[in-house]
Amino acid sequence: MLQKPNVKIVQPHLKSQNCRQSFIFLRRNSSSSSESLFNIFTGKCIVVMAQESGKRKKPNILVTGTPGTGKTTMSTALAEATQLNHINIGDLVKEKKLHDGWDDELDSYILNEDLVCDELEDIMEEGGNIVDYHGCDFFPERWFDCVVVLQTDNSVLYDRLSKRGYKDSKLSNNVECEIFQILLEEAKESYAEDKVVALKSDNIEDISRNVATLTDWIRNWSIPV
Ligand SMILES: Nc1ncnc2c1ncn2[C@@H]1O[C@H](COP(=O)(O)OP(=O)(O)OP(=O)(O)O)[C@@H](O)[C@H]1O
Ligand SMILES: [Mg+2]
Repeated sequence: MLQKPNVKIVQPHLKSQNCRQSFIFLRRNSSSSSESLFNIFTGKCIVVMAQESGKRKKPNILVTGTPGTGKTTMSTALAEATQLNHINIGDLVKEKKLHDGWDDELDSYILNEDLVCDELEDIMEEGGNIVDYHGCDFFPERWFDCVVVLQTDNSVLYDRLSKRGYKDSKLSNNVECEIFQILLEEAKESYAEDKVVALKSDNIEDISRNVATLTDWIRNWSIPV
């Protein structure tokens, strides 16, 4: 577990005013003729995403969300369905030592953002990657064609993190992070709004639906305009 699990909640009363429901409606940006736009039906809402591929032949997707919301579970299934490359940043940081040591208070490695970005630059330029991490504000914006924020009901998340044996402070910090939608706010501040989509991840059916939705999106993205 790296840095973000113990997200410090600053001015929670302000954050709470910004709480939204779990689905986000995305805006169509019709001004650019180079965009390939298409619709994905997710229950009641239509999500529209823009293609900004640059030189990539396949899209890069960022899957983010509070720890325990199911990023790795969904990314693994999506990678299997699409043959895209799953990059679990937590594993990569440990494996390649892209950190500045261990933080006892946060109970996690201190991720070195420069080392991580240097490590991934060429890979991301190629396209076809699913990046899985509980943070999103330090990656270059140009890397991603779609930013998925997974969201989980607070009591469901509490149970998942309890099963992991998280100590009380870590558990409550993470649940608060989810309540105040810290990752969704971070994604919306870091990426164009039409790239960010929030998806519910409470149960197995949600995983299946999210994988199917994103698989369709990836397949459509690949079709030359
Ligand atoms: N939609 C879901 N429905 C039911 N169980 C789920 C769902 N998503 C994840 N889980 C379960 O919750 C636990 C946490 O999932 P996972 O490890 O994928 O979360 P994560 O977001 O990658 O966490 P972290 O940020 O700590 O890496 C796992 O036991 C997984 O099986
Ligand atoms: Mg994970």
